Amino acid sequence: MPTINFVKEKRKVECAPGENLRQVALREGVEIYPFPHNYVNCMGMGSCASCRVHITKGTENISKQGFLEWIRLMLGPLTFFARIGHENDLRLACKVKVNGNVDVETQPPLISTGERFWG
Ligand code: FES
Repeated sequence: MPTINFVKEKRKVECAPGENLRQVALREGVEIYPFPHNYVNCMGMGSCASCRVHITKGTENISKQGFLEWIRLMLGPLTFFARIGHENDLRLACKVKVNGNVDVETQPPLISTGERFWG
């Protein structure tokens, strides 16, 4: 059984292999949406990008990013900049299938202050 470690919440939950990350978070009461998106979001359709998370460990254990998820992250002005330095680990939780152990940071900052931001 894959284990999802929600880093900010200091909470580890198990899920079935291939289970959707957003659905696991909702089931376990982990808040992946920042206010006000916890009330208004696209319900997992992949269009609002408010469910974005950083996969801080175990990116090899999640499903590959599809074209629609990639284009959504690239075309949104906020997500475009949030993606810099996190091209492989900024994901939409509603489009991620968990196949193994992962560490997840919910509600990551929009602007990266990491060392890879400028170069
Ligand atoms: S819930 Fe809207 S993009 Fe994931």
